[in-house]
Amino acid sequence: MESKRKILMDCDPGVDDAVALCLAAAHPEAFAFLGITTVAGNQTIEKVTENALRLSGFLGLNVPVAMGARTPLLRAPLTASEVHGKNGLGNVELPASAQTAREHAVLFLRDALCGLPAGEQATLVPTGPLTNIALMLRVFPEVRERIAQIVLMGGAACGGNITATAEFNIYEDPEAAAIVFDSGLPVVMCGLDATAKCGLDRAAADALAGGTGKVSRAVGGMLQFYLNAGAYRGRPMASIHDASTFMYLLHPEIYSGCRTTVRVDCSEGFNRGMTVCDLRGREPAAEPSVTVLLDADGAKFQEYLLDAVRTLDERL
Ligand code: BDR
Ligand code: CA
Repeated sequence: MESKRKILMDCDPGVDDAVALCLAAAHPEAFAFLGITTVAGNQTIEKVTENALRLSGFLGLNVPVAMGARTPLLRAPLTASEVHGKNGLGNVELPASAQTAREHAVLFLRDALCGLPAGEQATLVPTGPLTNIALMLRVFPEVRERIAQIVLMGGAACGGNITATAEFNIYEDPEAAAIVFDSGLPVVMCGLDATAKCGLDRAAADALAGGTGKVSRAVGGMLQFYLNAGAYRGRPMASIHDASTFMYLLHPEIYSGCRTTVRVDCSEGFNRGMTVCDLRGREPAAEPSVTVLLDADGAKFQEYLLDAVRTLDERL
């Protein structure tokens, strides 16, 4: 039997980060969590760290949480309160955690990776700006051999959400993203081309919110905020971008994409934060290290995600 993937998730919860964690928590047969690290993004570092602590307890993961970068490498932080609410979780209140966060995420990640038994590797799952990951790669390059792959949510081959050409996580810290995409490590880019098609529709969100299970109610409440107050107002479906990372690891067959080079625009121009994906189909000089997801089966995503929430309702 294939052994479980060891997971280090770096996130900024965040409604969709939270739902991504639900999906992962429902699959202990596939994932062994080594820890959760946080980065400023959807909310301040204090708020996203508090949310990570609460989610770890609420979802029965009970893994170490370490607080990371409070600002991008070069810029002032942005937040996304209009999408994720004042508390970052669509104003859904999860029970407080007795656990406290460690510091610093970069040191925690280094120790977790370098402390793995000889020959073993872990998968990094970043679902926020890439600040912590870039810092770690620059300061502790010895971690490289311990990284199986980096399956990240960020970027797009076509279009953007924070600007016409940039996706939020990459726009927040393009310099960090450039370090990660240029690292030569195996990266899977779960960008908007695929993740925007993966979510829950309004009927599903309402049904969860009105359900009896505690995970259903929390997820439904967060998504109702997303659908009513945020960027999805008036739309039939809320994209749950970050959950495509774990969904890809569980069900790669519902995604399609290609391997290619990805360059990040770090200029101050209109395209700052754009992930420039070479889709010309030319024979590259060297085998590209990045897999870019370009399409997804949204119906299957919804089915598998609802299964995961049901599983957690029954277990917790
Ligand atoms: C990404 O931006 C954040 O607001 C979400 O949590 C997700 O990681 C989508 O563009
Ligand atoms: Ca996120």
